[in-house]
Amino acid sequence: MNKAYKIREDFHWVGVIDWNLRDFHGYSTEKGSTYNAYLLKDEKVVLFDTVKSPFSEELMERISSVIAPEKIDYIVVNHVEMDHSSSLPLIIDRIKPEKIICSAKGKEALISHFKRTDWPYHVVKTGDVVNIGKRNISFLETPMLHWPDSMCSYIPEEKILISNDILGQHFATSERFDTEVDFSELMCQNKKYFANIIMPYSPLVQKLLKTITDMKLDIQMIAPDHGLIWTKHIPDALKAYYEWSSPKLEKKAVVFYDTMWRSTEKMAYSVTEGIRSQGVSVKMMKLGDDNHRSDIMTEILDAGAVVVGSSTLNNEMLPHVADMLTYMKGLKPVNRIGAALSSYGWNPGVLKKLNTELEASGVKLISEGITVKYVPEQSDIENCYNLGVKIAQELNTK
Ligand code: FEO
Repeated sequence: MNKAYKIREDFHWVGVIDWNLRDFHGYSTEKGSTYNAYLLKDEKVVLFDTVKSPFSEELMERISSVIAPEKIDYIVVNHVEMDHSSSLPLIIDRIKPEKIICSAKGKEALISHFKRTDWPYHVVKTGDVVNIGKRNISFLETPMLHWPDSMCSYIPEEKILISNDILGQHFATSERFDTEVDFSELMCQNKKYFANIIMPYSPLVQKLLKTITDMKLDIQMIAPDHGLIWTKHIPDALKAYYEWSSPKLEKKAVVFYDTMWRSTEKMAYSVTEGIRSQGVSVKMMKLGDDNHRSDIMTEILDAGAVVVGSSTLNNEMLPHVADMLTYMKGLKPVNRIGAALSSYGWNPGVLKKLNTELEASGVKLISEGITVKYVPEQSDIENCYNLGVKIAQELNTK
C-alpha cells in the first residue's frame, strides 16, 4: 500500500523510492535513488513531474491516497528526461488533465519522446505565473541545467521551489527531509550528483544562483526531483553549488590509473608521493573494481590537478582508462592542470593518446608526461616524484 507523504498542508510527495538502482547511465548509485513527484491541492490540483515508467502504478497509488487522480487539473513538466516523464503517457491518458505546463523546449521534447501532438500543452517562460486558486505558480526556465527543457516552479505563498534535477541526489531513504538524514552523507550524495550530472554546466549554475538572488525569491523549501527535500540546509546546499561551479579549485590532486604488471602503478605511486611531499592533498585511485568512474569524478570535482596513468595493451591504453577518459571528457573538468604517465613494451604511443584525451577534457598539460619501457628504473621513479612536486608547486602558487 503506497501512500503519499504530507509535506505540508495541501502539498504532498507522491514519488517513488528506487531502493535497488545501482547504475544511472554509467553513474554508480550505490544508495539507490528516488523519483520525486509532488501534488499540490488548491482550486486546481497540480502534479509536478512524474516517475520512471516501471513505477507508474506506485505513483497512482500515492496520488489516490490523497485525491482521485482524475481530479488533477494540471501537470507541470519541469524536466522531460525519462526518469521523470516516462509515466506521462499512461497518466495523461488516465486522468486527462486540462493543461500540461512546460517550457517551449519541454513541449518540443515531449513531442519528440511521445509523439503526442494532441496533449493540452500550455507553454510557459520565465516570469509567467499560473493562478491555481489561493496560490500561484511562477516559472523559471533553467535551460541546459541540465537539459534544454529544464525549468523550476516556485510557489510564492508556500515559499517552495521545485527545482527539477538541480540540488538532487541519488539517495534512496525512507526520510524525506534534509534534517532527517546524516548531513555528511547527504552532502556526499549531493556532491556526487553535481560532479556526474551538473558539472559541465557550471557557468549556468553560477548564472542561476545570481538570478535567484536578483529575483529575491523567498525560499523556505527546495524540492528536487531526486533525494531529500532541502529545508534547514538550504544555505549549505546553495553554498556548495556556488563553490563546485566556481573556477576556483582546491589544492588537491587526483591520480587515477590502471596497470597490467604494476609498472604504471609504481609511477602513479611516486607521483602521488611527490604531490604529498609539498603538503597538497592527493587521492590515488586505481580504476576497475577498486574505484568507479563516477566516484573518481566526484573527487575531481574540487581538485585542481588530474594525473592519468595507463599501461599499454595491444598499442592502446587499458580499457578502464579509455572508459574513464571518455566519461571525464563529457563532464568537462576545465580549469585543471594535469599530466599523463604510461608504460609500454615496444610501442610508446599511448602517452600521446593520454595527453590528447586530457587536453580534450579541458585539462591544461603541465608536462609532456612520462613513459617507461617495461619496468621503471630508479631514475624513472625519481622523475615521477619530481613531476608530482611540480604539480603540487603549481597548485600552491594558485
Ligand atoms: Fe533526473 Fe535529468 O533526470
